[in-house]
Amino acid sequence: MSDLYFEEEEFTSQFNGQTIKRIAQQAQPYWKWVLGFLLLIGIVSLQDAIFTYLSKLIIDEGIVVGNRPRLIQLITIYASMIIVQASGVLGFIYLAANLGERIQYDLRRKMFNHLQALSFSYFDKTPVGWIMSRVTSDAGRIADLITWGLIDTTWAVLNLTVSLVFMFIINWQLALVMSLILPILIVIAAQFQKRILTAFRQVRKLNSKLTGVYNENITGVRVVKALTREEKNLQEFDESASHLYRSAYRAAWLSALFLPTVQIVGATALGAIVWYGGWQITIGGLTVGGLQAFISYLTFMLFPIQDLARVYAEMQGSVASAERIFSLIDAKPEIVDRPDAIDPGAIRGDIEFEDVEFYYTQDKPVLADFNLRVKQGETIALVGPTGGGKSTIVNLVCRFYEPKAGIIRMGGLDYTSLTLHGIQSRIGMVLQTPHLFSGTIRENIRYGRLDATDAEVEEAARLAHAHEFIVTLEKGYDSEVGEGGNLLSTGQKQLVSLARAVLAQPDIFIMDEATSSVDTLTEALIQQGMETLMKGCTSFIIAHRLSTIKKADRILVIENGRIAEMGSHAELIRARGHYYSLYTKQFRQETEQQRIDEAFEREKIPLTI
Ligand SMILES: Nc1ncnc2c1ncn2[C@@H]1O[C@H](COP(=O)(O)OP(=O)(O)OP(=O)(O)O)[C@@H](O)[C@H]1O
Ligand SMILES: [Mg+2]
Repeated sequence: MSDLYFEEEEFTSQFNGQTIKRIAQQAQPYWKWVLGFLLLIGIVSLQDAIFTYLSKLIIDEGIVVGNRPRLIQLITIYASMIIVQASGVLGFIYLAANLGERIQYDLRRKMFNHLQALSFSYFDKTPVGWIMSRVTSDAGRIADLITWGLIDTTWAVLNLTVSLVFMFIINWQLALVMSLILPILIVIAAQFQKRILTAFRQVRKLNSKLTGVYNENITGVRVVKALTREEKNLQEFDESASHLYRSAYRAAWLSALFLPTVQIVGATALGAIVWYGGWQITIGGLTVGGLQAFISYLTFMLFPIQDLARVYAEMQGSVASAERIFSLIDAKPEIVDRPDAIDPGAIRGDIEFEDVEFYYTQDKPVLADFNLRVKQGETIALVGPTGGGKSTIVNLVCRFYEPKAGIIRMGGLDYTSLTLHGIQSRIGMVLQTPHLFSGTIRENIRYGRLDATDAEVEEAARLAHAHEFIVTLEKGYDSEVGEGGNLLSTGQKQLVSLARAVLAQPDIFIMDEATSSVDTLTEALIQQGMETLMKGCTSFIIAHRLSTIKKADRILVIENGRIAEMGSHAELIRARGHYYSLYTKQFRQETEQQRIDEAFEREKIPLTI
């Protein structure tokens, strides 16, 4: 609901010349199509006007004077023109639609590519829903604007101009009267359409609010009942619903009023023409066919006027869509390679934090004067209270964010002198909620190293101890994992991501609370897989479970962005400080569990019951 709100609220109601220019620039590579379109639509609208003029000739020179050969001649011209007309219409609609789709494709591609380049900080600030609607509905709106905006505007402008020219040819005095009435009609129609559109937008906004109210009440039905909030909720719902009703009523009323108004103004113009034209006929200034053609032109003009008004109103929404798309494309990634950055190929040597300062938002420092040196091949465990800064430390190692002050060195070099790819391709990560991509298990393991053979994939899965569960699946390595891997359990997903990390043979291995939600058996498997992987890797392990970190070379207790304590498990237990109390508080339960597990093992009772 909030995402929809986000979109609706952002609507700007002004035309922005700059944005329109930029949209036009998107069409530049396809100028041949645009040219072809303009040519065809030009021919079609000229013919439209000629048709009416031909009818005038058919009446005046064929029917009224009874000239058969002339009548046949004119009708033949009429018929052959219709064929040209039909092909022209087909051609320009095809070209405009193609152009719209093509530009939509280009914009989506640009956005996708740009999103991959943007830094994490962008995604912190920007809701996923907002980005999604840029890529889907906003891009779609641009396509519509280009296709139908182009067709309707060009068609309307051409039709109006050509009709007016022909009117002047038939009778300039009458045409002059018409050209005075025309702007009034356009202004009225445009004003109407603008209001109608605003009213409908308001309806949409309220509708999404109401959906939200429904949603919250249905999903939270237990809480509603438990707290007997029914009456109050109904009252709130009533308010939203009646607001929606009033807006919808207004929108419907305005739309209903639109056509009759245009028709009344049109009919007045028609009346003026019949009155003035009739008088002109009596004095010989106009023929009957001429007056008929005039009336046709006028009725003809009403459509382009309505179209123009509608396009004008819709365009404002589309221009706002374009603005949002461009704001995404223009967003600069915060972290980019320096021009002289090098790809080290492998990351060897120590990882060092020197006086590192970091915050996500300026008013809330997370790390201050943080110093740490991790030796190559060392396993560091990070523990500590929630929000302490553990994930932040590994985010900085991955260079998803960069320090605001201070330096992080890898192998003695400031890591900003290395390329992002050079660093990130050397890091293997397994997260608490591991992310898999739709596709098969094999594709997921191969995700970071596309050239790996099937044998290498299997080897990695064996090392990660994922092989065992994979072979029990019906299709083995070719089993689909579903969107985000949701056909697998969390533990299975973690095993697959471990295999993925093993295959990538990283220099740095990072695990962020990866084993907190799996059963002890799976955890033991993951543990074994990790140990294989960590050989030769510099590793950062964030875990709450004691068993995972006990074997770490050093354990760091992170509290409020500082290292509160550091040492091996035995040292820290002996010290009876933070770690000790964390251990006794948080891990007592786990050791209990372990004791039970061990007892089960001794008695040879299967653990799975
Ligand atoms: N993307 C973000 N934007 C803004 N603030 C953030 C962001 N991520 C974390 N923080 C803040 O930074 C601080 C440290 O967070 P961090 O995620 O590093 O903690 P953590 O030690 O990993 O906690 P946990 O054990 O719960 O995972 C917290 O106060 C958190 O609110
Ligand atoms: Mg964390």
